[in-house]
Order: sequence, then C-alpha cells, then structure tokens
Amino acid sequence: MINSSNTNAIGVFDSGMGGLSVLREIHQLLPSENLIYIADSKHAPYGDRSAQHVQHRCQQIANFLLKKKIKTLVVACNTATAEAVDLLRKQLTIPVVGLEPAIKSGVKMSKTGVIGVLATQRTIESKRLTSLVIRHAPHTKVLAQPCPGLMEKVEANHLDCYDTRQLIKQYTVPLLEQHVDTIILGCTHYPFLNNTIQTIVGRDIKLIETGKPVARQLQRILHQWQLLNSSVSLGHIDFYNSSYLPQHKQTMQQLWDKEIEIKPFLI
Ligand code: DGL
Repeated sequence: MINSSNTNAIGVFDSGMGGLSVLREIHQLLPSENLIYIADSKHAPYGDRSAQHVQHRCQQIANFLLKKKIKTLVVACNTATAEAVDLLRKQLTIPVVGLEPAIKSGVKMSKTGVIGVLATQRTIESKRLTSLVIRHAPHTKVLAQPCPGLMEKVEANHLDCYDTRQLIKQYTVPLLEQHVDTIILGCTHYPFLNNTIQTIVGRDIKLIETGKPVARQLQRILHQWQLLNSSVSLGHIDFYNSSYLPQHKQTMQQLWDKEIEIKPFLI
C-alpha cells in the first residue's frame, strides 16, 4: 500500500549553497522525490561560528521544514552534522541523514598511506572527525587542513578566480609536500571547486566527495522506513535562501545551472 506521506518532501539544508552539490546527487538518484532546499547564506559561514550558533540555526531550519511536513531531513553540511546532528536526532521523530568527511573511502583509495582532508575549522576541530580517524584510519596519516575563506568563494561564485586559486594553493601545497595521494573534500561547498582544485594538485591526486554516497544512504533509509515515493513523475524542488543579497540569488541559479525560483527564508 502506498503511504500518503511518501509524496511528502525531503528537507535538505546547508549553511549556504554548498549543499546543492548533495541535492543534485539526490535529485539524480531519486528523481521522483519532492525536495525542499534551504541555504542559510545570511548566517554563513557556520565553520567560523560557535557550536551554539550552529545548533540554534539547525533547530530553526528543522522546525521550519517540519511545518512543511518533510518525511526525512538531510543535513547537507559537514559542519552542521558535526555540531548538531546528534541533537536533531534526539529531537526529531523522522530519519535524519548527516554528512561526514569520507575518511573510510580515502583510506581505501590511498596508496601512499597519507591522505588530506579539506574542511572548515569547526569540522577539523570536531570530536566527530577525531573519532572517524581513530575508527577508520589507524594506520593512515591524516592531514587535516582547515580552509577559512574558501566557502565564501563558492558563495560568491568565484570558482576559478585568481584569489580562489591562491587560497587553494595555500591549503593544498603543504599536503602535497607531505606526499598525500588522496584529498577528501570535507565541506559540501568544495565539490564546486573540484576542477580548480584538480588542476592545482594535478591529475594523479584523487579527490573524494560525499554527495553520491549520501544520496545512496538516503535511498536505503527511505526504503527501510517505507518512505520511497513511487510516483513516475519528476519531483518538485522548492529553493529557499535566508540572504536577501541579489548576488546570492544569482550564485544559487548559476550553481544549480537552471532558472529557479528562490523564496526568502526569513527565520
Ligand atoms: N558547507 C559546509 C560544510 O559542509 C560549510 C560551510 C560553512 O562554513 O558554513 O561544512
């Protein structure tokens, strides 16, 4: 029997537009699902804010999405997952999917036994990352590199500008000097910089993102909870942004690569 809540939307959010890199994989894998995406660009970056601030914003966003009757919540942000996913799981009765730097895949792929993680300061300092490294990388050297300023380049759609390339060089050259052969993109904004990063570090270095595995994990969870939408028509996507700035709207359109209506998220 089809559960009527199966047509309810999946809520997806990020501190900004980085989560669109996860949303595109979800939409590709589960095209009939209805989706609501919230970019909290006005309150970004989360990576430089206190844990309390991040938790408060996550709760505000989750409450808004619950009023829209979402059936599942995807925290499409490594920083928000590190700080708030446990809290959200305690408070919500729907499934909550989080996102973490792909340490396990990085360890599997590395031949030199040295991997790099690019992420926000808050993710790098989080207990979650420490515990991932202890669990999955006991014999691998993990070089964790905070990247202040990099998410802002994506929010500004400066994906291949001189300043962006300089920042990427500053963050990756020390990793290359220590012989990493695999770099984990531990922030959902960075997949939009994939080409620029790859050009700078060279084709031999493997870059790992988490959008696809998260979409597959979401699919498994929807299946387990019997929440998959079995409709054959294409799902609808609602986009929201907490920022009023016209350039943020423009970036969101460009990153999604389609004309979209972006509603204000005023909370
Ligand atoms: N996109 C977010 C992440 O995955 C972080 C950006 C921020 O600092 O707000 O960590």
